[in-house]
Amino acid sequence: MAIKLDTKYLENFMNDSDFKAIQPFVITAHNLITQKNGLGNDFLGWLTLPEDYDKSEFSKIKECADKIKNDSDILLVIGIGGSYLGSRAVIEAIQSPLYNNFNHDTPKIYFLGNNLSADYFHNIMTLCDGKDISVNVISKSGTTTEPAIAFRLVKQYMDKRYGPNAANRIYATTDKAKGTLKTLADREGYQTFVIPDNIGGRYSVLTAVGLLPIACAGIDIDQLMQGAQTALKQYKDPDINKNDCYKYAAIRNILLRKNYTTEVTVAYNPSLQCYQEWIKQLFGESEGKDNKGTFPTSMIFSTDLHSLGQYMQQGLRNISETVLWVKNEKEKVLVTHDPENLDGLNFLAGNDLHAINEKAYLGTALAHTSGGVPNTIIELDNIDTFTIGQLIYFYEKACAISAYLLGVNPFDQPGVQLYKSNMFALLGKPGYENQKSSLEKLL
Ligand code: PA5
Repeated sequence: MAIKLDTKYLENFMNDSDFKAIQPFVITAHNLITQKNGLGNDFLGWLTLPEDYDKSEFSKIKECADKIKNDSDILLVIGIGGSYLGSRAVIEAIQSPLYNNFNHDTPKIYFLGNNLSADYFHNIMTLCDGKDISVNVISKSGTTTEPAIAFRLVKQYMDKRYGPNAANRIYATTDKAKGTLKTLADREGYQTFVIPDNIGGRYSVLTAVGLLPIACAGIDIDQLMQGAQTALKQYKDPDINKNDCYKYAAIRNILLRKNYTTEVTVAYNPSLQCYQEWIKQLFGESEGKDNKGTFPTSMIFSTDLHSLGQYMQQGLRNISETVLWVKNEKEKVLVTHDPENLDGLNFLAGNDLHAINEKAYLGTALAHTSGGVPNTIIELDNIDTFTIGQLIYFYEKACAISAYLLGVNPFDQPGVQLYKSNMFALLGKPGYENQKSSLEKLL
């Protein structure tokens, strides 16, 4: 099994009666999902997607990726939230966070439109000088401000550089019919890819949203889907003793009830850092509403043991830890023997760095558990494409179950509207005049 849940470090924090007590609620959450009668049930398309995805769209994605690989040095991916985190997470996990620093026969991939920093935008565009560019602009709503502004600027750049051929280098992933981006794409003649109506942003990585950039990075998207398909079959049983995905959701809920209000997802391999960002968005937007939800955050160990490790060991005791432990790394780096041994490290000579990392993980799990931090372990055999596909589905389903256990809608995000309307008002968007004057009194 490529993914294994290990609960041995939870023994001092919960017991069989906690699991017995939550089992009926897990069955209810399972029924809400499978019978499609829970909150937000219009957005359950991700549930069966690994099996019933649109095969002709999938072929189009592969063809388009081949074209981009042939005619581009750089792919600019414009999108925010669920419209970029998944693809970035998969690319960094499977290739490397340093993917763009190596020479590949696939394009470098830069992400734009996920912030409003002028410096960041300028720097990425500087990297485009003299290079052949393709653009994948991604927005389900087709109206999100950050990617819309980035795309306006990039479109002008592409039009200037490529003239009428710019349209052959711009690909839009959006709603099949509505939104400004769809209208613009149709008018300009861009190739478009569809985000299914019944799949929300943060559950969309296995649609064209994620798959096109992922395929452009040379990753086998068939393998990714096969991993997700395996997970689909594997995580169907409502019995938490037979379903690690549901058991993980149950553990989160039990811990929250015991006042562990923050969950730190920990990885010991920086390749998973962006995957952790994807997890944070998934849980944060799915659960954080109605004054409920576990606060999702992340750390890379042992890096953060030297910054936040003190807090983890002895700070406020409302933190739980979920460790994504990777059993096997791709590379071996052996510690060498040094005849002088001035650093005193000869006792490690011949050890693989990963074996030392493993001792750091085990030592930390024991230390943090004894310090009052419950540790849940999600063990991955490897970081390979199949396993990442499986893990994506594991997390999506765990998140939906976890949100239903809380009694919230896993598929909406009403709380992200207020900053947007404040920003529009402060920018003087027509129609926001009253809000502008009341906000300015507060500044
Ligand atoms: O999960 C979500 O729905 C959000 O995070 C969206 O993905 C994000 O706000 C971007 O939206 P859009 O794709 O409509 O531009």
